[in-house]
Amino acid sequence: MRRPLLVANWKMNKNRAEARAWAEALVNDLGPDPAAELVVAPPFTALETLSTALSGSAVQVAAQNVASAAAGAYTGEISVPMLAEIGCRYCIVGHSERRALFSESDQVVSAKAAALLEAGLRPIVCVGESEAERKGGQTAEIVGRQLETSLPAMETPAAGDLVVAYEPIWAIGTGVTATPGQAQEVHEFLREGLRKIMGAGAEQVRVLYGGSVNPENIESLMAQPDIDGALIGGASLEPESFRQIVANCHLENSSS
Ligand code: 13P
Repeated sequence: MRRPLLVANWKMNKNRAEARAWAEALVNDLGPDPAAELVVAPPFTALETLSTALSGSAVQVAAQNVASAAAGAYTGEISVPMLAEIGCRYCIVGHSERRALFSESDQVVSAKAAALLEAGLRPIVCVGESEAERKGGQTAEIVGRQLETSLPAMETPAAGDLVVAYEPIWAIGTGVTATPGQAQEVHEFLREGLRKIMGAGAEQVRVLYGGSVNPENIESLMAQPDIDGALIGGASLEPESFRQIVANCHLENSSS
């Protein structure tokens, strides 16, 4: 059974004081035993603040990016050991904003995911097609290639540590969510792709949906058999809205 995973991706939002306030408000209102595993990915500058503020709570911290090298002459980069030291358990890699705005290739994403897995951290590898690609009937081709080439080339991938996120670019920050049916169709395709890549381990990989997830649509998305959680941008910035998403994410819907 795959435990549902909800990840708040703050992108480039919130300073440390705001991060602390979010953590306090969320932890106060969160029930004792949420059905889903909960993770928040703040900017690097708030990671340690959140790691401290959330210690002992059900919420773990993640980074939004990482370097593939462990140390050295890489000005402006942050390495996997640095994230581990701060208490990061997860890290998003290959978000469409990084692919589009910072020219990250599938190969770069794959190297980052490999570095994370080797150190025992859990990569959240993002894939997703643009609106033009969907309209051109290329969704399967695009996400299939991204999956195949963005996953780390490892002999035995630690499948339970690997997370894939399907984030259709046309649904990110637009308020237009993929319908549960549209999302399930791609998630099923990704699961099949994972089976070809890693065999039985594919059943352990959590595949998250991202793109305008909110408290109203989370339940119908989670009811799909191959949707194991969500990567949430805008609706995760307010603690109450994230808490409602957590409350509306029911464990029995996403088990397999
Ligand atoms: P929104 O939830 O704001 O659409 O963002 C999705 C996303 O990019 C999460 O990584």
